[in-house]
Amino acid sequence: MANKLKSWKKLENLTERTEADILTLFDDANRATRMSYQVGGLFADFSKQRINVDIHKALLNLAEEADLEGWRAKLFAGEPINTTENRAVLHPALRGVGGSEEVKKQVRDMRAHMRKFSAKVRSEQNFNAIVHIGIGGSDLGPRLCADALAALTEPALELRFAENVDGASINDALAGLDPKSTLVIAVSKSFTTQETLMNVTAARDWLIEGVGDKAGAHMIAVSANRDGAEAFGVASDQIFDFWDWVGGRYSLWSAVGLSLQIAYGPDVFDQMLDGAAEMDEHFRDTPLENNLPVMMALTLIWNRNFLGYPSQAIISYARRLRKFPAFLQQLEMESNGKSVARDGGETVPTCPIVWGDEGTNGQHAFFQLLHQGTLGAPVDFIGVLEDAENRPEHHKALLANLFAQSEALMVGKDAKTVRTELEDKGLSEDEIRTLAPHKMFPGNRPSTTIMLDRLDARALGNLIALYEHKVFVASVIWNINAFDQWGVELGKVLAKTILTELGEHNSLDHHDASTAHLIGLARKSITS
Ligand code: F6P
Repeated sequence: MANKLKSWKKLENLTERTEADILTLFDDANRATRMSYQVGGLFADFSKQRINVDIHKALLNLAEEADLEGWRAKLFAGEPINTTENRAVLHPALRGVGGSEEVKKQVRDMRAHMRKFSAKVRSEQNFNAIVHIGIGGSDLGPRLCADALAALTEPALELRFAENVDGASINDALAGLDPKSTLVIAVSKSFTTQETLMNVTAARDWLIEGVGDKAGAHMIAVSANRDGAEAFGVASDQIFDFWDWVGGRYSLWSAVGLSLQIAYGPDVFDQMLDGAAEMDEHFRDTPLENNLPVMMALTLIWNRNFLGYPSQAIISYARRLRKFPAFLQQLEMESNGKSVARDGGETVPTCPIVWGDEGTNGQHAFFQLLHQGTLGAPVDFIGVLEDAENRPEHHKALLANLFAQSEALMVGKDAKTVRTELEDKGLSEDEIRTLAPHKMFPGNRPSTTIMLDRLDARALGNLIALYEHKVFVASVIWNINAFDQWGVELGKVLAKTILTELGEHNSLDHHDASTAHLIGLARKSITS
């Protein structure tokens, strides 16, 4: 267990002794500079975290004791560190970093295949829309980037997504499109996912109705299960492969990103890969004390395990990154939402609940809790320096709000200041005594600020790869496997049984009374 490590004990002692508020730590004039990092087009400032020099040192010792350097080397060497599935974890190889000669060749071939196909679609102009069908890792990354890349590049065709098994998802995705000019891309690593297969079947029926036996030419599959895709009826030369050494939630960089490459162009997609590679190289080659993903993970560990925060908020002050919290929910919680250690033993508390929204919207909703609630939550504020919208006044206001919120969380407002303000307003002593506690802000609430120079493909690659590596570092310290996801299986299996039972009249006695009642209710409303 991580808490058996010497530096863990040291950190526990430091927690007890750490009364200092963040603001007093700025007595060190170099703090903001010392705790800031720049990698590629991304700047990150950790100085508003409740971490002093001793804590920082002890956290770095913890990483060393957990053999982070050894694990990092294993990751890049392609060792099977996903032990429960006996798989290597090589998403950096998709960006050209690490991997064996064989893996490098697979990646080169894949990129050439993607480039050739996307160039053809873009030049022939037979299609004016893509419907990208997939869920989880086969959806969230492309969906996030489709929004983000639109900041600076006009997509060559319309990009729509269908993920949910709720019929509304595929209906909305197909609505108003012409099957004659629509390309359907079915993305599923396993090609067994219920939601995706149902949506792809519906899309195929829609294509057949619209274009008859030409439907096959409108249907592409991206999968690590070529046989499955072929059995479904996708022509062999319309299938893009990927491999079991790419985890679903790390697969954006593979042919899973094909729809992005077609819509935004191969060069933009390559720039995204290059941005991610820049972060890979930084993570791989930089000593722990200057390493950005390491700092981010150590901050997470400190907030989660020593300050006891149960959640982590992600607030993008960039509308085009508003899907980032949803993307990170899978990346972080599917990776590190574990309670069994690598050796089968117990763990310390692991992944916090990751949640968030776009700023400024969140300020008018849940920020009350962040500032004055009993729980609070560490926040990652994410902003962009360059205005891509040609609205300078809006952009200034957006940035002002971002900086103000992180400052307010840290500085707070004490009793004396509140009292003076209320006195200045002419309130009576009684009124001041009643109102003052409600108007105070405790402050000392931690946050990190990440600023992208501009919302281009490179910075987007920097940003996503940063969080990928952070997740890995945290998993090493928690001694868990970040790359399996057994926790999603049980519900899938039960859903299959219940799906059959919804159309039958068999006894439901083998279910608990609540589930049996709910299935009974649904049976009454299901007509066929
Ligand atoms: O159910 C979880 C999961 O397996 C994710 O890990 C994955 O990203 C998603 O489902 C989709 O899986 P697939 O790409 O195999 O359809």
